[in-house]
Amino acid sequence: MKTTFSIIKADVGGTPGHSTVDQRLMDVANEKLKEAKESGLIKDFFVTHCGDDLELIMTHDKGEDNEEIHALAWDVFTAATEVAKELGFYGAGQDLLKDAFSGNIRGMGPGIAEMEFTERKSEPVVAFLMDKTEPGAFNLPIYRIFADPFNTAGLVIDPNLHHGFVFEVWDIKEHKKVLMETPEEMYDLLALIGAKSRFVIKRVFPKEGGKLPANEPVAVVSTEKLFQIAGEYIGKDDPVAAVRAQSGLPALGEVLEPFAFPHLVSGWMRGSHNGPIMPVGIKDAKCTRFDGPPRVVAIGFQVKNGMLTGHADLFDDPAFDYTRRRAMEIADYMRRHGPFEPHRLPMEDMEYTTLPKVMDKLKERFEEV
Ligand code: 13P
Ligand code: 13P
Ligand code: MG
Ligand code: MG
Repeated sequence: MKTTFSIIKADVGGTPGHSTVDQRLMDVANEKLKEAKESGLIKDFFVTHCGDDLELIMTHDKGEDNEEIHALAWDVFTAATEVAKELGFYGAGQDLLKDAFSGNIRGMGPGIAEMEFTERKSEPVVAFLMDKTEPGAFNLPIYRIFADPFNTAGLVIDPNLHHGFVFEVWDIKEHKKVLMETPEEMYDLLALIGAKSRFVIKRVFPKEGGKLPANEPVAVVSTEKLFQIAGEYIGKDDPVAAVRAQSGLPALGEVLEPFAFPHLVSGWMRGSHNGPIMPVGIKDAKCTRFDGPPRVVAIGFQVKNGMLTGHADLFDDPAFDYTRRRAMEIADYMRRHGPFEPHRLPMEDMEYTTLPKVMDKLKERFEEV
Protein backbone atom coordinates (compact mmCIF):
# COMPACT_ATOMS: atom_id res chain seq x y z
CA MET A 1 0.00 0.00 0.00
CA LYS A 2 1.35 3.41 -0.94
CA THR A 3 1.03 6.52 1.19
CA THR A 4 -0.06 9.92 -0.09
CA PHE A 5 1.24 13.03 1.64
CA SER A 6 -0.98 16.02 0.80
CA ILE A 7 -0.52 19.66 1.68
CA ILE A 8 -3.52 21.76 0.67
CA LYS A 9 -3.63 25.43 1.69
CA ALA A 10 -5.68 28.54 1.29
CA ASP A 11 -5.92 32.07 2.61
CA VAL A 12 -9.46 32.14 3.98
CA GLY A 13 -9.01 35.34 5.95
CA GLY A 14 -6.25 37.12 7.86
CA THR A 15 -6.23 38.62 11.36
CA PRO A 16 -5.42 41.49 11.30
CA GLY A 17 -4.94 42.34 7.62
CA HIS A 18 -2.80 39.76 5.86
CA SER A 19 -0.67 38.97 8.94
CA THR A 20 -1.74 35.67 10.45
CA VAL A 21 -4.49 33.04 10.87
CA ASP A 22 -6.75 33.22 13.94
CA GLN A 23 -6.81 30.12 16.16
CA ARG A 24 -10.59 29.82 15.66
CA LEU A 25 -10.06 29.09 11.96
CA MET A 26 -7.50 26.43 12.80
CA ASP A 27 -9.98 24.97 15.33
CA VAL A 28 -12.53 24.56 12.50
CA ALA A 29 -9.91 22.75 10.40
CA ASN A 30 -8.83 20.52 13.30
CA GLU A 31 -12.42 19.52 14.04
CA LYS A 32 -13.25 18.68 10.43
CA LEU A 33 -10.05 16.74 9.84
CA LYS A 34 -10.52 14.86 13.12
CA GLU A 35 -13.92 13.70 11.85
CA ALA A 36 -12.37 12.69 8.53
CA LYS A 37 -9.72 10.68 10.37
CA GLU A 38 -12.35 8.97 12.52
CA SER A 39 -14.38 8.09 9.43
CA GLY A 40 -11.26 6.56 7.81
CA LEU A 41 -11.11 9.00 4.90
CA ILE A 42 -7.66 10.23 5.92
CA LYS A 43 -5.10 8.45 8.07
CA ASP A 44 -3.62 11.41 9.87
CA PHE A 45 -3.37 15.21 9.73
CA PHE A 46 -1.65 18.31 11.04
CA VAL A 47 -3.17 21.78 10.86
CA THR A 48 -1.01 24.88 11.01
CA HIS A 49 -0.47 28.23 9.30
CA CYS A 50 2.21 30.35 7.73
CA GLY A 51 1.31 34.03 7.81
CA ASP A 52 -2.33 34.33 6.68
CA ASP A 53 -2.41 30.93 4.99
CA LEU A 54 -4.28 28.02 6.57
CA GLU A 55 -2.31 24.82 5.95
CA LEU A 56 -3.82 21.32 5.93
CA ILE A 57 -1.25 18.52 6.00
CA MET A 58 -2.88 15.13 5.49
CA THR A 59 -1.82 11.53 4.97
CA HIS A 60 -4.06 8.96 3.28
CA ASP A 61 -4.00 6.08 0.80
CA LYS A 62 -6.17 7.61 -1.91
CA GLY A 63 -3.44 8.91 -4.24
CA GLU A 64 -2.86 12.36 -5.71
CA ASP A 65 -5.75 14.46 -7.05
CA ASN A 66 -8.33 12.38 -5.22
CA GLU A 67 -11.84 13.82 -5.37
CA GLU A 68 -12.82 12.91 -1.78
CA ILE A 69 -9.63 14.39 -0.32
CA HIS A 70 -9.99 17.59 -2.35
CA ALA A 71 -13.67 17.84 -1.40
CA LEU A 72 -12.67 17.50 2.26
CA ALA A 73 -10.15 20.36 1.94
CA TRP A 74 -12.71 22.51 0.14
CA ASP A 75 -15.24 21.78 2.89
CA VAL A 76 -12.70 22.83 5.57
CA PHE A 77 -11.89 26.06 3.71
CA THR A 78 -15.55 26.99 3.13
CA ALA A 79 -16.41 26.29 6.80
CA ALA A 80 -13.43 28.36 7.99
CA THR A 81 -14.42 31.14 5.57
CA GLU A 82 -17.87 31.30 7.19
CA VAL A 83 -16.24 31.89 10.57
CA ALA A 84 -13.81 34.42 9.04
CA LYS A 85 -16.76 36.31 7.53
CA GLU A 86 -18.70 36.37 10.78
CA LEU A 87 -15.68 37.75 12.59
CA GLY A 88 -14.92 40.22 9.81
CA PHE A 89 -11.44 38.88 9.12
CA TYR A 90 -9.53 40.44 6.27
CA GLY A 91 -9.96 38.93 2.82
CA ALA A 92 -12.34 36.23 4.12
CA GLY A 93 -12.45 33.48 1.50
CA GLN A 94 -9.67 35.25 -0.45
CA ASP A 95 -8.35 32.11 -2.13
CA LEU A 96 -11.70 30.38 -2.78
CA LEU A 97 -12.16 31.60 -6.31
CA LYS A 98 -14.98 29.33 -7.40
CA ASP A 99 -18.45 28.98 -5.92
CA ALA A 100 -18.91 25.25 -6.02
CA PHE A 101 -16.59 22.28 -5.81
CA SER A 102 -16.53 20.16 -8.95
CA GLY A 103 -14.28 17.16 -8.44
CA ASN A 104 -10.81 18.67 -8.11
CA ILE A 105 -9.56 21.58 -6.03
CA ARG A 106 -6.89 22.44 -8.64
CA GLY A 107 -7.69 25.66 -10.43
CA MET A 108 -10.08 26.77 -7.68
CA GLY A 109 -7.62 28.91 -5.73
CA PRO A 110 -6.05 26.76 -3.00
CA GLY A 111 -2.43 25.59 -3.38
CA ILE A 112 -1.70 21.86 -3.54
CA ALA A 113 1.47 19.80 -3.12
CA GLU A 114 0.81 16.05 -3.08
CA MET A 115 2.99 13.01 -3.54
CA GLU A 116 2.24 9.30 -3.45
CA PHE A 117 5.13 6.98 -2.60
CA THR A 118 6.09 3.61 -1.20
CA GLU A 119 7.14 4.20 2.41
CA ARG A 120 10.67 3.26 3.29
CA LYS A 121 11.49 1.63 6.66
CA SER A 122 11.83 5.15 8.02
CA GLU A 123 10.28 8.00 6.07
CA PRO A 124 11.20 11.60 7.02
CA VAL A 125 9.16 14.21 5.11
CA VAL A 126 9.47 17.99 5.46
CA ALA A 127 6.53 20.31 4.74
CA PHE A 128 7.72 23.77 3.70
CA LEU A 129 5.11 26.53 3.94
CA MET A 130 5.72 30.03 2.56
CA ASP A 131 3.80 33.31 2.81
CA LYS A 132 4.10 36.54 0.76
CA THR A 133 5.79 34.93 -2.20
CA GLU A 134 5.22 32.73 -5.26
CA PRO A 135 5.96 29.14 -6.38
CA GLY A 136 9.27 30.13 -8.05
CA ALA A 137 10.61 30.95 -4.56
CA PHE A 138 11.24 27.20 -4.20
CA ASN A 139 13.42 26.97 -7.33
CA LEU A 140 16.65 27.96 -5.63
CA PRO A 141 16.34 25.80 -2.50
CA ILE A 142 14.98 22.71 -4.32
CA TYR A 143 17.77 22.98 -6.89
CA ARG A 144 20.37 23.27 -4.17
CA ILE A 145 18.97 20.32 -2.19
CA PHE A 146 18.97 17.88 -5.12
CA ALA A 147 21.66 19.21 -7.47
CA ASP A 148 24.22 21.41 -5.71
CA PRO A 149 27.21 19.52 -4.30
CA PHE A 150 28.19 22.62 -2.31
CA ASN A 151 24.90 22.26 -0.45
CA THR A 152 24.35 18.53 -0.37
CA ALA A 153 27.42 16.60 0.69
CA GLY A 154 25.67 13.33 -0.18
CA LEU A 155 25.79 14.16 -3.89
CA VAL A 156 29.56 13.84 -3.57
CA ILE A 157 30.11 11.19 -0.91
CA ASP A 158 27.06 8.89 -1.00
CA PRO A 159 27.01 6.46 -3.95
CA ASN A 160 23.19 6.32 -3.68
CA LEU A 161 22.90 10.02 -4.57
CA HIS A 162 25.89 10.24 -6.87
CA HIS A 163 24.01 9.62 -10.12
CA GLY A 164 21.64 12.55 -9.57
CA PHE A 165 17.96 13.36 -9.96
CA VAL A 166 15.28 14.22 -12.54
CA PHE A 167 13.58 17.64 -12.34
CA GLU A 168 10.09 18.24 -13.73
CA VAL A 169 9.93 21.94 -14.66
CA TRP A 170 6.73 23.73 -15.61
CA ASP A 171 6.47 26.75 -17.86
CA ILE A 172 3.57 28.37 -16.04
CA LYS A 173 2.90 30.91 -18.78
CA GLU A 174 2.83 28.48 -21.73
CA HIS A 175 1.40 25.59 -19.65
CA LYS A 176 4.11 23.14 -20.74
CA LYS A 177 6.50 20.91 -18.83
CA VAL A 178 9.95 19.40 -19.38
CA LEU A 179 12.01 16.73 -17.60
CA MET A 180 15.69 17.50 -17.03
CA GLU A 181 18.43 15.39 -15.49
CA THR A 182 21.16 16.50 -13.14
CA PRO A 183 24.11 16.63 -13.07
CA GLU A 184 24.22 16.22 -16.90
CA GLU A 185 21.83 19.08 -17.71
CA MET A 186 22.38 21.35 -14.74
CA TYR A 187 23.37 24.37 -16.83
CA ASP A 188 20.26 24.02 -19.01
CA LEU A 189 18.12 23.52 -15.94
CA LEU A 190 19.53 26.68 -14.34
CA ALA A 191 18.90 28.60 -17.58
CA LEU A 192 15.20 27.90 -17.06
CA ILE A 193 14.64 27.99 -13.32
CA GLY A 194 16.65 31.18 -12.83
CA ALA A 195 13.62 32.82 -14.47
CA LYS A 196 11.55 31.95 -11.44
CA SER A 197 8.39 33.89 -12.30
CA ARG A 198 7.96 31.71 -15.38
CA PHE A 199 9.71 28.34 -14.93
CA VAL A 200 9.02 26.50 -11.70
CA ILE A 201 10.20 23.20 -10.36
CA LYS A 202 7.08 21.05 -9.92
CA ARG A 203 8.58 17.71 -8.89
CA VAL A 204 11.86 15.89 -8.38
CA PHE A 205 12.24 12.17 -9.11
CA PRO A 206 15.04 9.67 -8.46
CA LYS A 207 16.78 8.37 -11.58
CA GLU A 208 16.23 4.85 -12.95
CA GLY A 209 18.35 2.12 -11.41
CA GLY A 210 18.77 3.75 -7.99
CA LYS A 211 17.63 2.74 -4.53
CA LEU A 212 14.19 4.39 -4.87
CA PRO A 213 11.46 3.83 -7.51
CA ALA A 214 12.06 6.29 -10.38
CA ASN A 215 8.34 6.97 -10.86
CA GLU A 216 7.68 8.13 -7.29
CA PRO A 217 8.39 11.80 -6.53
CA VAL A 218 10.79 12.76 -3.77
CA ALA A 219 9.76 16.44 -3.77
CA VAL A 220 6.73 18.39 -4.97
CA VAL A 221 5.87 22.10 -5.06
CA SER A 222 2.47 23.82 -5.42
CA THR A 223 2.40 25.86 -8.64
CA GLU A 224 -1.07 27.41 -8.63
CA LYS A 225 -1.12 30.97 -9.95
CA LEU A 226 -4.11 32.90 -8.63
CA PHE A 227 -4.14 35.68 -11.18
CA GLN A 228 -4.50 33.08 -13.93
CA ILE A 229 -7.65 31.83 -12.26
CA ALA A 230 -9.13 35.11 -11.09
CA GLY A 231 -7.88 37.26 -13.98
CA GLU A 232 -6.74 39.97 -11.56
CA TYR A 233 -4.58 40.48 -8.49
CA ILE A 234 -6.31 39.14 -5.39
CA GLY A 235 -3.36 37.90 -3.36
CA LYS A 236 -0.08 36.13 -3.93
CA ASP A 237 0.23 32.43 -4.73
CA ASP A 238 1.89 31.65 -1.42
CA PRO A 239 3.43 28.23 -2.14
CA VAL A 240 4.03 25.00 -0.22
CA ALA A 241 6.32 22.04 -0.86
CA ALA A 242 6.94 18.55 0.48
CA VAL A 243 10.42 17.02 0.45
CA ARG A 244 11.43 13.49 1.47
CA ALA A 245 14.81 12.98 3.15
CA GLN A 246 17.51 10.42 4.04
CA SER A 247 18.38 6.87 2.87
CA GLY A 248 19.25 7.52 -0.77
CA LEU A 249 18.00 11.12 -0.62
CA PRO A 250 19.53 14.28 0.83
CA ALA A 251 19.77 14.16 4.63
CA LEU A 252 17.37 16.26 6.70
CA GLY A 253 20.08 18.85 7.31
CA GLU A 254 20.88 19.00 3.60
CA VAL A 255 17.20 19.65 2.92
CA LEU A 256 17.22 22.57 5.39
CA GLU A 257 20.63 23.99 4.46
CA PRO A 258 19.57 26.20 1.47
CA PHE A 259 17.26 28.12 3.81
CA ALA A 260 20.29 29.37 5.77
CA PHE A 261 20.59 31.85 2.90
CA PRO A 262 17.69 34.37 2.84
CA HIS A 263 17.40 34.56 -0.95
CA LEU A 264 15.34 37.24 -2.66
CA VAL A 265 11.81 36.25 -3.62
CA SER A 266 8.92 38.21 -5.10
CA GLY A 267 5.52 38.73 -3.49
CA TRP A 268 6.16 41.03 -0.53
CA MET A 269 3.67 43.91 0.05
CA ARG A 270 0.71 43.83 -2.36
CA GLY A 271 2.43 40.98 -4.18
CA SER A 272 4.59 43.63 -5.80
CA HIS A 273 7.99 43.64 -4.12
CA ASN A 274 11.16 41.62 -3.89
CA GLY A 275 12.51 40.80 -0.46
CA PRO A 276 14.46 38.16 1.46
CA ILE A 277 12.71 35.02 2.65
CA MET A 278 13.09 34.53 6.40
CA PRO A 279 12.98 31.02 7.93
CA VAL A 280 10.90 31.05 11.14
CA GLY A 281 9.19 28.78 13.65
CA ILE A 282 5.38 28.67 13.63
CA LYS A 283 5.25 31.12 16.54
CA ASP A 284 6.95 33.71 14.32
CA ALA A 285 5.08 32.89 11.10
CA LYS A 286 3.33 36.24 11.24
CA CYS A 287 3.83 38.83 8.51
CA THR A 288 4.28 42.29 9.99
CA ARG A 289 6.90 44.65 8.61
CA PHE A 290 5.68 45.92 5.21
CA ASP A 291 3.40 42.85 5.31
CA GLY A 292 6.43 40.60 5.62
CA PRO A 293 9.20 39.98 5.12
CA PRO A 294 8.25 36.78 3.26
CA ARG A 295 8.44 33.78 5.60
CA VAL A 296 9.08 30.08 5.33
CA VAL A 297 8.18 27.46 7.94
CA ALA A 298 9.49 23.87 7.91
CA ILE A 299 7.62 21.13 9.75
CA GLY A 300 9.47 17.82 9.69
CA PHE A 301 7.50 14.58 10.08
CA GLN A 302 8.19 10.89 10.40
CA VAL A 303 5.60 8.93 8.44
CA LYS A 304 4.90 5.29 9.34
CA ASN A 305 2.06 3.25 7.82
CA GLY A 306 0.44 6.49 6.77
CA MET A 307 0.56 7.95 10.27
CA LEU A 308 2.43 11.10 11.30
CA THR A 309 4.32 9.49 14.16
CA GLY A 310 6.46 12.49 15.13
CA HIS A 311 7.06 16.08 14.12
CA ALA A 312 9.28 19.11 14.78
CA ASP A 313 9.08 22.82 13.97
CA LEU A 314 12.51 22.87 12.32
CA PHE A 315 13.26 26.59 11.86
CA ASP A 316 12.27 27.28 15.48
CA ASP A 317 15.93 26.99 16.30
CA PRO A 318 18.82 29.34 17.18
CA ALA A 319 20.78 27.75 14.29
CA PHE A 320 18.69 30.01 12.02
CA ASP A 321 19.07 33.19 14.14
CA TYR A 322 21.94 34.42 12.03
CA THR A 323 19.89 33.91 8.82
CA ARG A 324 16.99 35.83 10.34
CA ARG A 325 19.32 38.71 11.26
CA ARG A 326 20.75 38.75 7.78
CA ALA A 327 17.25 38.63 6.31
CA MET A 328 16.34 41.74 8.30
CA GLU A 329 19.49 43.55 7.14
CA ILE A 330 18.56 42.72 3.54
CA ALA A 331 14.93 43.70 4.21
CA ASP A 332 16.14 47.07 5.45
CA TYR A 333 18.39 47.56 2.45
CA MET A 334 15.60 46.65 0.02
CA ARG A 335 13.07 48.90 1.78
CA ARG A 336 15.33 51.92 1.32
CA HIS A 337 14.52 51.70 -2.43
CA GLY A 338 10.88 52.56 -1.71
CA PRO A 339 8.89 52.37 -4.96
CA PHE A 340 11.97 51.79 -7.11
CA GLU A 341 12.96 48.58 -8.87
CA PRO A 342 14.43 46.11 -8.07
CA HIS A 343 12.59 46.34 -4.74
CA ARG A 344 9.38 46.85 -6.67
CA LEU A 345 8.86 44.12 -9.27
CA PRO A 346 9.62 44.82 -12.95
CA MET A 347 6.74 46.16 -15.06
CA GLU A 348 6.08 42.77 -16.63
CA ASP A 349 5.28 41.22 -13.24
CA MET A 350 3.34 44.32 -12.14
CA GLU A 351 0.78 43.51 -14.85
CA TYR A 352 -0.86 41.21 -12.35
CA THR A 353 -1.19 43.85 -9.66
CA THR A 354 -3.30 46.99 -9.31
CA LEU A 355 -0.63 49.15 -11.05
CA PRO A 356 -2.21 48.91 -14.55
CA LYS A 357 -5.22 50.82 -13.14
CA VAL A 358 -2.89 53.70 -12.27
CA MET A 359 -1.25 53.52 -15.72
CA ASP A 360 -4.69 53.63 -17.35
CA LYS A 361 -5.43 56.90 -15.65
CA LEU A 362 -2.25 58.46 -17.11
CA LYS A 363 -2.68 57.03 -20.61
CA GLU A 364 -4.41 60.08 -22.12
CA ARG A 365 -1.70 62.46 -20.98
CA PHE A 366 1.13 60.98 -23.01
CA GLU A 367 2.27 62.88 -26.15
CA GLU A 368 4.44 61.67 -29.01
CA VAL A 369 8.15 62.50 -28.75
P1 13P B 1 -6.97 46.82 0.21
O1 13P B 1 -7.11 47.81 -0.90
O2 13P B 1 -8.17 45.94 0.37
O3 13P B 1 -6.50 47.42 1.49
O4 13P B 1 -5.86 45.75 -0.29
C1 13P B 1 -4.52 46.03 -0.25
C2 13P B 1 -3.83 44.75 -0.05
O5 13P B 1 -3.64 44.32 1.05
C3 13P B 1 -3.43 43.99 -1.26
O6 13P B 1 -3.71 42.66 -1.12
P1 13P C 1 -1.50 37.39 0.82
O1 13P C 1 -1.30 36.90 -0.60
O2 13P C 1 -0.67 36.64 1.79
O3 13P C 1 -2.94 37.42 1.19
O4 13P C 1 -0.93 38.86 0.90
C1 13P C 1 -1.50 39.83 0.11
C2 13P C 1 -0.80 41.12 0.16
O5 13P C 1 -0.95 41.89 -0.76
C3 13P C 1 0.03 41.48 1.32
O6 13P C 1 0.60 42.76 1.20
MG1 MG D 1 -4.25 37.45 2.61
MG1 MG E 1 -0.77 34.63 2.29
